[in-house]
Amino acid sequence: MPSGYGSDIQDVEQLRATAVAVAQQVGDFVLRMRAQGAWQVQTKTSDTDVVTAADTAAERLARRLLGQWRPGEHVLGEEEGGAGSPAHGLCWVVDPIDGTVNYLYGLPWYAVSVAVQRDGQSLAAAVGQPAAGRLWSAARGCGADCDGVALRVSGATHLELSLIGTGFSYRSERRARQAAMVACMLPRIRDVRRAGSAALDLCSVASGWLDGYVEHGLHSWDWAAGSLIAAEAGAVVRLPKDGSDLLLAAAPGIMDSLAELLAECGADAV
Ligand code: IPD
Ligand code: CA
Repeated sequence: MPSGYGSDIQDVEQLRATAVAVAQQVGDFVLRMRAQGAWQVQTKTSDTDVVTAADTAAERLARRLLGQWRPGEHVLGEEEGGAGSPAHGLCWVVDPIDGTVNYLYGLPWYAVSVAVQRDGQSLAAAVGQPAAGRLWSAARGCGADCDGVALRVSGATHLELSLIGTGFSYRSERRARQAAMVACMLPRIRDVRRAGSAALDLCSVASGWLDGYVEHGLHSWDWAAGSLIAAEAGAVVRLPKDGSDLLLAAAPGIMDSLAELLAECGADAV
């Protein structure tokens, strides 16, 4: 696997190739583990925030592959943590299974998410959906594709006709506020979708399967890959920053009206 460091097209394409290779190998692994059953082994922020044996083993595999192919580079992962956004150099950001609850239940909407960042900015990314054999990827400035087909976000221009994805925290007090925000939005849009994987929600925006996506309180491993894929497919993406933990990605034609609606619905307080 090639090694390199920089920001020109050849470099980001090399990084994309590594992200794709890791997402594919880890995806094959989690699919094989799912065929043997998925066992909840522990919980994190609440009783519903589960970790399966596959989550931890898949992250170990991702770290081993990155250690071989990108020796010495930082890795931040959902299960083992790590020093994210180092002052210098690249940081690989891995969510070994995004959509763990779906995985636990055997619902095929779960993903392996791999991105590489510099100074907190994603340069290349891959999101695999192993149960469907799909793989999205992107490199900064080079576009996004799904299984070799170039992606473009939807041409939505009317918020009231737009399909908006969202997700909910594992903590019940925050969920109540998120539910109130969704109740406020719902009469003003086509409908909402809560599919259970932030990475795949962002890829859905990239594919035009959703017109927009909004969620509070995500971690960087949830969005590091999907946000680049959405942006490279033409979405306007607002990452969490400056005290706001809102992530927003939408087709350009509805971004302003969606942001206004979120402000009306008290998105800052969610
Ligand atoms: C979760 C999923 C979910 C989102 C949650 C995330 P996990 O990640 O992305 O869609 O709503 O906020 O924590 O726990 O399945 O890796
Ligand atoms: Ca996740």
